[in-house]
Amino acid sequence: MGTCDSTMGLSTTLFVMAFLLFGVASMKNQAYFNETGYLPCHFTNSQNISLSELVVFWQNQDKLVLYEFYRGKENPENVDPDYKGRTSLDKDNWTLRLHNVQIKDKGLYQCFVHRKGASGLVPVHQMSTDLSVLANFTQPEIMLTSNRTGNSDITNLTCSSAQGYPEPKKMFFQQTTMNSTTEHNAVMNIFQNSVTGLYNVSASVSLLISPEKNVSIFCVLQPERPQTELLSLPYIIGAKPTATPLPALEPVMTAFVLIPLFIFLCGAVFCVRLKKRKKQQPGPAPGCEAIKAEGEESKQTEERVGNRVPERSDEAQCVVNILKMASDDRRAAHF
Ligand SMILES: *[C@@H]1O[C@H](CO)[C@@H](O)[C@H](O)[C@H]1NC(C)=O
Ligand SMILES: *[C@@H]1O[C@H](CO)[C@@H](O)[C@H](O)[C@H]1NC(C)=O
Ligand SMILES: *[C@@H]1O[C@H](CO)[C@@H](O)[C@H](O)[C@H]1NC(C)=O
Ligand SMILES: *[C@@H]1O[C@H](CO)[C@@H](O)[C@H](O)[C@H]1NC(C)=O
Ligand SMILES: *[C@@H]1O[C@H](CO)[C@@H](O)[C@H](O)[C@H]1NC(C)=O
Ligand SMILES: *[C@@H]1O[C@H](CO)[C@@H](O)[C@H](O)[C@H]1NC(C)=O
Ligand SMILES: *[C@@H]1O[C@H](CO)[C@@H](O)[C@H](O)[C@H]1NC(C)=O
Ligand SMILES: *[C@@H]1O[C@H](CO)[C@@H](O)[C@H](O)[C@H]1NC(C)=O
Ligand SMILES: *[C@@H]1O[C@H](CO)[C@@H](O)[C@H](O)[C@H]1NC(C)=O
Repeated sequence: MGTCDSTMGLSTTLFVMAFLLFGVASMKNQAYFNETGYLPCHFTNSQNISLSELVVFWQNQDKLVLYEFYRGKENPENVDPDYKGRTSLDKDNWTLRLHNVQIKDKGLYQCFVHRKGASGLVPVHQMSTDLSVLANFTQPEIMLTSNRTGNSDITNLTCSSAQGYPEPKKMFFQQTTMNSTTEHNAVMNIFQNSVTGLYNVSASVSLLISPEKNVSIFCVLQPERPQTELLSLPYIIGAKPTATPLPALEPVMTAFVLIPLFIFLCGAVFCVRLKKRKKQQPGPAPGCEAIKAEGEESKQTEERVGNRVPERSDEAQCVVNILKMASDDRRAAHF
């Protein structure tokens, strides 16, 4: 125990001494695919070494050189072809920019600062950066792979998302109706592009969709952090139209169209008969005002009634006619 503790204490002390003496530091950094990554050196030049004495370079974990600053200017001689034209240096804070980051660029990088003196290169500062590369998956998209048919309520759907990195954790479906949400796990198929290293993922489900409900289906992709959970647009499956939608409509039709029509027709016939009777038995016509209030005009009915009433066709005129006939009769009685 004691040995272990003292060993740990010693290694910590060595690490701190190394940091103080040689300026060794390390950090983690992230870069997005096809964008710029930053490889800082955190070199402050506390000794005020002149640029003409400085030699600064960055190398990857395979010791290939990304960039070299040699005594005041860039020296492309030792730079690996993989990194030619892909880097630029921010001299204010000694941060190397790596452009057009690829998946294979993830890994450990080191920056070395040396002072070029009369007796050769003297290490001054060192820093490592662990670069991870990310690519955001596209918004998941749901496609119908087989529709439900007249005799089956099974719907097959496939969800896909593309061009992400690293491998996502999970893809699943959510089915929501007015009252409930159910989760459907699915097996995630993963394809990796051999050139870019990016992943495409897809998952399929076979769902039994209740025909009498409206259903919304979402596809959810859970990437690794830091990208947040991705949700597809809803895929909406509407309630199947019921076989006989008319019964609900018929009572309404009967109430609003047929009954007034019937009353009007009866009224019109009654009115015509009344008129005929009036010719024989003069007197006031009590039925006509009620007929006028109840009846709604209809061209067809108007024509039919028109055939039987020679001069005027509508029921308002019927009332007028009857009243006129009544007064004619009275006048006839005077003579
Ligand atoms: C990389 O980014 C450029 C624009 O900055 C774009 O035109 C290109 O399509 C991107 N390439 C990939 C593979 O995403
Ligand atoms: C270095 O400076 C640039 C601006 O000149 C800044 O964008 C960048 O974040 C700095 N990097 C570090 C590691 O401080
Ligand atoms: C660093 O050196 C320059 C001249 O090379 C001088 O002007 C400056 O004051 C020095 N700074 C420090 C902090 O020693
Ligand atoms: C799937 O079937 C429903 C009827 O159940 C229909 O309304 C819909 O248009 C069909 N969708 C496709 C993409 O064929
Ligand atoms: C991945 O998705 C992209 C964009 O949707 C597509 O162009 C590419 O062919 C897909 N690759 C694979 C291996 O499925
Ligand atoms: C939905 O909820 C309402 C009230 O909470 C309930 O009356 C109805 O039966 C529920 N429907 C289903 C399909 O669960
Ligand atoms: C729907 O998916 C299920 C399960 O994967 C499969 O057995 C079935 O054949 C598919 N239906 C159609 C019409 O493709
Ligand atoms: C389904 O949605 C439509 C409108 O989007 C609505 O008219 C209908 O009443 C809904 N059906 C059910 C069963 O909720
Ligand atoms: C990736 O997605 C995150 C949120 O999840 C966002 O903050 C970031 O800007 C996106 N990056 C790119 C390059 O699209």
